Amino acid sequence: MADLREMYQEVILEHAKSPRNYRALEAPAVRAEGYNPLCGDRCTVYLTMRGDVIEDIGFQGSGCAISRASASMMTQSLKGKTAGEAEGLFKSFHQMVTGRNSHGDRPQLGKLEAFAGVSEFPARVKCATLAWHTLEAALHGEHVPVTTE
Ligand code: FES
Repeated sequence: MADLREMYQEVILEHAKSPRNYRALEAPAVRAEGYNPLCGDRCTVYLTMRGDVIEDIGFQGSGCAISRASASMMTQSLKGKTAGEAEGLFKSFHQMVTGRNSHGDRPQLGKLEAFAGVSEFPARVKCATLAWHTLEAALHGEHVPVTTE
């Protein structure tokens, strides 16, 4: 288990250093802003939908390593997913980082399991979910910045 945890942390560090899909998408992409009032970090998520499917997704923002890595891995996991599947992943991810489900209950999370250790650090839950809250706002077409509070 210790090895597994180390490997997972390495994935997080690697994504924090070289975030994937770190780019703005041109209109008519949907865009939403997220904000963590505890630290002042911000995140913008861009989405291009084809019907109900996420065709392309990008993000930009200033944030800690966990929030950057989480946004990066979120964008990788969501391309080609429907809005409903994305919401389901967020629910499962949120339950995982708050310690409310077990490994066997979330087979669909795949690489996002890297963030399971966050449940031991409640102060970092908002870091890990900032991009996801912002994604939800984008899916719902909210134009007012969302916060993690
Ligand atoms: Fe700000 Fe993590 S410290 S999002």
